[in-house]
Parts: sequence; structure tokens; C-alpha cells
Amino acid sequence: MDQALLKKKYGFENPFKPDPLSKKALRFLNSGKRLLDVGCGEGADSVFFAKKDFDVTAIDIKQDHLRRFRNYRSDHKLSNITIQRRSAVTYRYPRSAYDAIICLLVVCCMRRSEFDSMLPALKRAVRPGGTIVMSARNYLDPEFDEYRATEKMIEPGTFLFKEDCCRFIYFLEKDRLREAFDDFEVLYYYEGYAPCKYNEHPRHGDSYIICRRKGGRA
Ligand SMILES: C[S@@+](CC[C@H](N)C(=O)[O-])C[C@H]1O[C@@H](n2cnc3c(N)ncnc32)[C@H](O)[C@@H]1O
Repeated sequence: MDQALLKKKYGFENPFKPDPLSKKALRFLNSGKRLLDVGCGEGADSVFFAKKDFDVTAIDIKQDHLRRFRNYRSDHKLSNITIQRRSAVTYRYPRSAYDAIICLLVVCCMRRSEFDSMLPALKRAVRPGGTIVMSARNYLDPEFDEYRATEKMIEPGTFLFKEDCCRFIYFLEKDRLREAFDDFEVLYYYEGYAPCKYNEHPRHGDSYIICRRKGGRA
């Protein structure tokens, strides 16, 4: 179904297509099919992986996003997706329960301190040998300069979000994402400029990581 029809039928705010990082990650996800999508939004990445036969658990706090996603899931009979309304920060991440965890453009929607507090539990939730895929806006983002010029910084790199989609915006520092996973094996890392996948801005400053928890089978 084309994007205009999907938007009309389900009310999607964003293009309903998988993140390029999900597509890139696929070739690293050879072993095991249990995938957690943290901050799934409207569900495009969850659907991408469900169609590749992953058993997907998807969590997000935003009711509107989840409602659209649930409607899409039931119309498309995707019984291998479980959707739960949960906060990524307070979620009781089961230990070593997933072969892969994706968390795309979510940690930049929280306070820096919230990212710090969820990180250890998120890392333990992937099994040894399992993969974490994460992306976030960073210090290179043109919006970071705008925020610094006009808004109060409430924590390092963190501001109240001017748009109404999330409460906070956190721009990751240089090397922050790599350092966050310094106990994992890094399979892919990028920190630089990238096109806006939502087609809302000319470009963003982004950090991307695909990394593997040490130990266990890959
Ligand atoms: C920019 S969207 C990204 C959605 C999707 N992952 C994607 O890549 O298109 C950020 C999502 O993170 C969710 N989010 C923000 N803070 C969250 C939190 N503390 N717990 C769970 N979801 C959160 C928002 O509701 C929103 O759906």
C-alpha cells in the first residue's frame, strides 16, 4: 500500500517504512528471532522485522502511536508482534531475553539522566552474543545550535522539546554512543550527518551503532 493510502487509512504521522539502520542490521541478525523494539513509534520497524519472521515485542509510551500500530497489525494479521504501552526508562527488562534489541531515535527523546539509568538494564536484556541497534540525534544536529541559542539546558545536552511529540530532546555528545557500549563488540558505528528519514529537515546530526554483547553464540 502506498504511503498516502497508509496515512489516510491509519493516520500515520511519519512515512511507514523501515529505518535504513534496520535494513543494515538485518545481516548481523542471523541467530535467534526474539526482538524487542524499544520506542517503536508507529511500528514500521517492528513490522519490517515481523515480516522477516522475528517474534517482536514492541513498547512505546505514546497511546496515539500504539493505536495506529495496533490497527495496522490486526489488519495485516501480524500475530508475531506483541505491543505494550511501557516506558523505556522504567520497563522491567527481562534478562538475556532477546536476540536483538532495536532502539531507534528514542534516547534523544528523553533526558540524558534517563538514558543513563535505562542503559544497564537494556544491555542485560539482550542475550550474550545478541545484538543491539541504536540511533540518536547528536551534537552535530543543526537543531542543537538552535536550542542552545534559545532554550534553557536542563541537563547536559537536554532541553524541553519545543514540538509536542515528546517532552525532552537530548543531543548525544561526541563519542557518547560508542562509549555507552564500550563493553560490547562494535559491528558498525557512524557519527555524522545523515538525511532526515521523516523528510522534515534537510539533514540531521546522528549517531548509529550496531553492537554485540560479548560471550555466547553470534
Ligand atoms: C522519534 S520517535 C521514533 C519512533 C521509531 N522508533 C522510529 O524510529 O521511527 C520517538 C519515539 O520514542 C517514544 N518514546 C520517547 N520516550 C519514551 C520512553 N521513555 N519510553 C518509551 N517510548 C518513548 C515516543 O513516544 C516516540 O514514539
